[in-house]
Amino acid sequence: MSKIIWITGAGSGIGKELALAYAENGNTIILTGRKKAQLDEVATLLPNSYVLPLDVTDEKAIATAVAEIADKYGCVDILINNAGVSQRALANETSNEVGRQLMEVNFFGSVHLTKAVLPLMLKAGKGNIVGMSSAAGKFGFPLRSYYSASKHALHGFYEALGLELKDTNIHTTVVCPGRIKTDISKNALKGDGAVHSEMDPGQQKGVDVTVCAAKIKRGIARNKSEIYVGGVEILMIYFKRYTPWLFRFIAKRVSAK
Ligand SMILES: NC(=O)c1ccc[n+]([C@@H]2O[C@H](COP(=O)([O-])OP(=O)(O)OC[C@H]3O[C@@H](n4cnc5c(N)ncnc54)[C@H](OP(=O)(O)O)[C@@H]3O)[C@@H](O)[C@H]2O)c1
Repeated sequence: MSKIIWITGAGSGIGKELALAYAENGNTIILTGRKKAQLDEVATLLPNSYVLPLDVTDEKAIATAVAEIADKYGCVDILINNAGVSQRALANETSNEVGRQLMEVNFFGSVHLTKAVLPLMLKAGKGNIVGMSSAAGKFGFPLRSYYSASKHALHGFYEALGLELKDTNIHTTVVCPGRIKTDISKNALKGDGAVHSEMDPGQQKGVDVTVCAAKIKRGIARNKSEIYVGGVEILMIYFKRYTPWLFRFIAKRVSAK
């Protein structure tokens, strides 16, 4: 059966690839992000899509966007809160303003859109809600203090929400990618809010974004509560959980770039 799938950050990287992965079975993909031109370009690659530019930090715009989708489609089957911005700066060199901005996009943006779409899912009696965390949402990592904090926060929110929805047919999933080859490091913010503009060596060697999107799609179809995708760095999630001393030993020796 065809589905209505809403993806934020759909103009590039993982979001774009997810849009392509879901373009089958008559699915309609709602493409959201700030850059309309990028979304329009992705739309040309899809049989059924709807371009809905939106800054997820704008609560009023979220309400308007959700009302528009409710009018047009009535429901959303899968909401993928993929929009996010990374950080490349020491904690003490990151301004409070930039720190808040990272929380606004990565945490509140995801949470506010989720809460706005949830009534549609409750009415329909079904749905999948996805939060895009990171391996850095499972452990702290240098130069990503606020980013890591914003992603950790998603776990608490979506776990709690998932438990609140346990008697419904609405499922929450949190995705933890390791290093995936996208422009995330180029788009990351430095401490003063300037864009990092560099493809970090670790990012360059990241897992192919198509592989990443396919794994995320499979996990959502299985209603998994967490999905891990990446290279050897994913092992660090298990080290942190089962052998924290080994995690710290390795983490101190890993390049943050
Ligand atoms: N690549 C990795 O290694 C990796 C690892 C762990 C987690 N992740 C997570 O995966 C997600 C996607 O990242 P990516 O790797 O695909 O990088 P990306 O290409 O930089 O994608 C980020 C997307 O978020 C959108 N976005 C940023 N701020 C927004 C806002 N205020 N409102 C709406 N959209 C906004 C951007 O579009 P606009 O600029 O047009 O708004 C962009 O399309 C992020 O949440 C990221 O934290 C990535």
